[in-house]
Amino acid sequence: MTTTYSRITGLGFYVPDNVVTNDDLTQYMDTSDAWIQERTGIKQRRFFTYGKETNASMAAAASRMALERAGLAANDVDLIVYATLSPDYYFPGSAFLMQRELGLEGIAVIDIRQQCSGFVYALSIADQFIKTGMYKTALVIGSEIQSTLMDKTTEGRGVAVIFGDGAGAAVVQATTDLEHRILSTHLHADGRYAEELYLKDPGSSRPNHFITADTATAGGSSVVMNGNTVFKHAVVRFMEVINESLQANGYQPSDLALLVPHQANIRISGYVQQQMNLPDEKVFNNIQKYGNTTAASIPIALTEAFEQGRIQPGDLVCLAAFGSGFTWASALIKW
Ligand code: COA
Repeated sequence: MTTTYSRITGLGFYVPDNVVTNDDLTQYMDTSDAWIQERTGIKQRRFFTYGKETNASMAAAASRMALERAGLAANDVDLIVYATLSPDYYFPGSAFLMQRELGLEGIAVIDIRQQCSGFVYALSIADQFIKTGMYKTALVIGSEIQSTLMDKTTEGRGVAVIFGDGAGAAVVQATTDLEHRILSTHLHADGRYAEELYLKDPGSSRPNHFITADTATAGGSSVVMNGNTVFKHAVVRFMEVINESLQANGYQPSDLALLVPHQANIRISGYVQQQMNLPDEKVFNNIQKYGNTTAASIPIALTEAFEQGRIQPGDLVCLAAFGSGFTWASALIKW
């Protein structure tokens, strides 16, 4: 009996054309280009334009690119797994809206909320469904509009300078080719740290009503982050989960052709790179251009890495993420 695996056969991304530089942010808050670049590596990010883009429309644009590169039509897709922390509606999820935009009524959609690890979790879900034979072709999405979730005043500057908007997509298809496939995925979470990086309101467990004048003005409707705690956990968990994927498949860090880390902060990626003794050409970073786009960061980075010829057939590629929840996850791929 032949075993079914899954493989990424197409990649795409979409970012809004509204570029917001670090200098642009100084109009709203007390910060500086030098502070942001030194602490995060970010030079600019993209913010969506109201009326032009939505979370789902960006994902649809990324999906069209990925499908074209896979040589498929939209109606070849039988599953959508969609990761976002910033859905267009509280419910239903943005997967439904993107499905509608692509004209794929009737197929299965799954929305997940795993924040910065969302794309790797989504990839793992697609991988499991394909390996069991239930579905053959999945669109795996990470898409975020975070610019509306942040307090863009001096009070919120520790968060607002980091995050950006954008979307990425991967087409994942069934294969029997042992040499070119997703080797394994590794998923983790620790809810003890849920409030270290979170958005409290709107939430259902409130007195009286879902949204009140108080919750709208009391600061709970902006992202809150304890940056130091996030940083300390991130560097440990990134290392752990990358090593877990390598060990599960009998590889060492030196076997990697490319590490594509979630673009959280250039200092986190730099620390991991140094600890794993990886040269610059084996670690992909584009946080300088887009900031931290949460679930979208890995598929955007992966697409750019592919476009730049940094991934070749047969390469060992590791995707690794850490984020709110806390969550952390990795995927090891033989390209
Ligand atoms: N511009 C200028 N100054 C700022 C600032 C900004 N955007 N944000 C914070 N500051 C100030 C603080 O007010 C503080 O001032 P003080 O010393 O007078 O009190 C000072 O800079 C240091 O703040 P601190 O929060 O200790 O800075 P830091 O070195 O920890 O850097 C982060 C802050 C957020 C960049 C850093 O903690 C980080 O990268 N954490 C991980 C975040 C992350 O990756 N999140 C995504 C996870 S998926």
